[in-house]
Amino acid sequence: MAEGGLYKKYVWEIPVRVTHWVNFLAIAVLSVTGGYIGAPETLADSPSQYVMGWVRFVHFVAAYAFTISVTSRIYWAFMGNRYASWREYVPFVTREGRQRMLDTLKYYLFMSKRVPNAVGHNTLAGTTYLVVFMLYFVMILTGFALYGQRAPQSVMHKLTGWLFVLFSPQGMRLTHHLGMWLLIGFVIHHVYSSWLMDVKERGGVMSSIFSGYKAVRMKD
Ligand code: HEM
Ligand code: HEM
Repeated sequence: MAEGGLYKKYVWEIPVRVTHWVNFLAIAVLSVTGGYIGAPETLADSPSQYVMGWVRFVHFVAAYAFTISVTSRIYWAFMGNRYASWREYVPFVTREGRQRMLDTLKYYLFMSKRVPNAVGHNTLAGTTYLVVFMLYFVMILTGFALYGQRAPQSVMHKLTGWLFVLFSPQGMRLTHHLGMWLLIGFVIHHVYSSWLMDVKERGGVMSSIFSGYKAVRMKD
């Protein structure tokens, strides 16, 4: 037992941590390169330097890394420990989960002083990550659809071409672009609330996403 009745507990396994940081790096690279692809006039463009070609290449390398990382995390949601499980993302399917969501919401809205003290993701964070993973799918699908559009005979276009029934080509680009801003908005809130919970729960959540360990109150 650690100080103050706290136990050191291994919560985030290696695949959870590795995919989290690969996604972070990939999204950073994809946002910078995507920002340039969407508005190339922001940098001095010179055809002789082939800037757009390199930027698109880096975007696609990061896109493949991101896709492999997201797929690996989904696999781990079925193979990993209980804190990595897909169940953490859908707390609202049980009555107890819904109650915890309400309690956490009250805490965030300053209506209650009871800190959530979750060992895995707190219930609101878990639900938010479900939305974030859906956003990942949107980015991957619209991204590969835009990619395949360049080569109408390719396997990629055969796999993703059906999306153009739902979106116009410009609608697809706009959706892909808006997705980036939604992710950036999420990250601002995410880092703030992780920090807040770190201070309030005193469970070391910030360092846990690097080390895997948290300080928890119960020995479960
Ligand atoms: C979170 C992940 C991603 C972010 C933030 C992102 C961001 C962006 C942005 C902002 C643009 C410019 C859109 C515009 O205004 O025209 C773009 C273009 C593009 N992205 Fe992504 N992207 C991501 C993932 C992907 C993935 C997974 C692929 C799959 C290959 C992809 C492929 C493309 C393609 C093909 C284009 C258009 C390139 C062109 O028109 O030359 N992106 N991306
Ligand atoms: C592009 C940027 C980021 C995205 C999209 C993102 C997304 C996520 C997601 C989806 C999870 C759940 C992990 C899982 O179940 O596999 C998570 C957990 C976590 N992230 Fe991030 N993250 C980002 C950046 C950061 C940064 C910069 C920090 C801290 C400096 C951070 C701190 C954490 C912490 C502490 C957790 C575990 C918190 C919890 O229990 O819910 N993240 N993040």
